[in-house]
Parts: sequence; structure tokens; C-alpha cells
Amino acid sequence: MNKKLNLLYFSATDTTARVVKEVGKAISDEVKEYDITLPGTRQEKLVFGCNELVIVGVPVYAGRVPDFLIDYFEKVKGNNTPAIFIVVYGNRDYDDALLELKNYFEANGFIGIAGGVFIGEHSYTTKVATGRPDIDDLKTATKFGMKIKEKLNGIEDCTQTKKLIVKGNFPYKERKSMPQIAPETSDKCIKCGVCAEQCPMRAIDFNNFKDIDVTKCIKCCRCIKGCPVEAKSINNETLNKIIQALVDNLSTVRYEPELFI
Ligand SMILES: Cc1cc2nc3c(=O)[nH]c(=O)nc-3n(C[C@H](O)[C@H](O)[C@H](O)COP(=O)(O)O)c2cc1C
Repeated sequence: MNKKLNLLYFSATDTTARVVKEVGKAISDEVKEYDITLPGTRQEKLVFGCNELVIVGVPVYAGRVPDFLIDYFEKVKGNNTPAIFIVVYGNRDYDDALLELKNYFEANGFIGIAGGVFIGEHSYTTKVATGRPDIDDLKTATKFGMKIKEKLNGIEDCTQTKKLIVKGNFPYKERKSMPQIAPETSDKCIKCGVCAEQCPMRAIDFNNFKDIDVTKCIKCCRCIKGCPVEAKSINNETLNKIIQALVDNLSTVRYEPELFI
């Protein structure tokens, strides 16, 4: 594979990042990473050429691509650049997210070569898809990378390749609004500031880590899962009911990755 490999991913709780990196490792040793999880990394325009390959990965939020990424994706352009699309979901469903991701990038100069759907531990609880992606998921990611490499080696001109078909519907599933809430901070907080530094939306005040702007918070749970002393949690009746239903219905169900190539 003589194309320069790039990884472009948003990953609040690291499951998407792990899958994308594993697929990338199977394709090339030389990789350029664009981790767009922090807001400062979503400012610059990116342009990729036809001699590059881009793996794009996002988590599934409410069956869709996270909405706050869509404006940024308008700044990412390809020039007949081959691309792999990956979505990671928390064991409920990925609905239209993969199709949506593919459509954004194909409309911006990228040519879809393959699509992958993987399962990651649910952002809201450790009891659903616990520990995923696990070793078997990562093996599937490696095999997926190898298949992509093989496919690319057999393609002379990406513009002539058969159109990639993935699962999903258009019009996409309607976006559901979340309750306007943010995590609470208990007295266990040691004021290390990791939560404020790592928040993808800069929603946490750097001078008072308990002060979280509900209008900015996307409830991605990065501050909850990343807190070294477990001082952050979401305490909201509506959300707690959703989480309980996820645990009741999905904690013993195992879905497997789906590959489109
Ligand atoms: C706001 C929000 C909405 C989510 N919606 C879904 C969903 O529709 N279906 C699903 O299976 N998982 C859903 N999840 C779970 C994540 O897709 C899943 O945990 C994923 O692995 C998180 O990726 P990350 O670790 O890269 O952030 C949602 C998570 C969040 C924070």
C-alpha cells in the first residue's frame, strides 16, 4: 500500500480511538493521527490528496453522527481520496450513523472503500458492552485492515471503484434532544483539572471544576469515565431511567462488528 495513511477520529471515552488505531495498524506502520476530540483540534481546515488514505471514526450518538462534528466535517476536504468509515456504538444500535458519515465524506471529495461498525462500552454505564472493544473485536479490526489493504492493492484508480454500500436509511433517524443537564461533582474532587482539560466542548470552568455549562455539555461522559477519583456522575431522573433500561435490556446481549467491503 503506497498511500499515506491518516486517522481522523473523535473519541470521548476512547473506544472509537482504539478501533480506528487497530484497523490503521493492520494497513500501515506509518500513520498520521488527527484526534479531533478536543475543541482546539477542530479549528483547522484539512485537505487530503488522492495519494492518501483516511480512516474516519466517530461514536454513534442517538443513532447518528454526533451533531457538533458536522460543521467541522465541512472543513475536511478530499481530492478523490479513498476513505474508510468507522462508527462505534454502545450495544443498542447504530441506526443511520454509518450511512450519514459516509455521505458527508463522499460529498466532500472522498471515495468510500469500506465501512466498519464496532461495539464499544456504553458511555453511560460500564454494565453495557463492558470492556469493549475486547480482544475479539480488535482481532476483527485487524482482519478488516488487512482486507482493506488487499482491496486497495487491487484498485488502480479509486474513481473507478464500485460504489460502497452500507446499512442505514435516508432520511436519517430524527435527532432526539437530550435533557439539559450536566454531570455533578462530589466532594471527592481533588481539583486536578483533568475534567476541564479533557472536555471536548470546553464546558467545564477551569477555575471551578464543579461549574459545568449545561448548554455546552454533550453528555459524552468523558469527565465521568476519566475522573481519577470518580467524583463526577450524572444524577437525573430521565437519564437514570434511560440508563436502567439500557442495562436491563442490553447487558447480557452481545452484538458483533459488521463490515462493509
Ligand atoms: C450522547 C450519547 C448518545 C449515544 N447514543 C447511542 C446510540 O444511539 N446507540 C448506541 O448503541 N450507543 C449510543 N451511545 C454509546 C456510544 O456510542 C458508545 O459508548 C461508544 O463506544 C462511545 O464512543 P467513544 O468511546 O469513542 O466516545 C451514546 C453515547 C452518548 C454519549
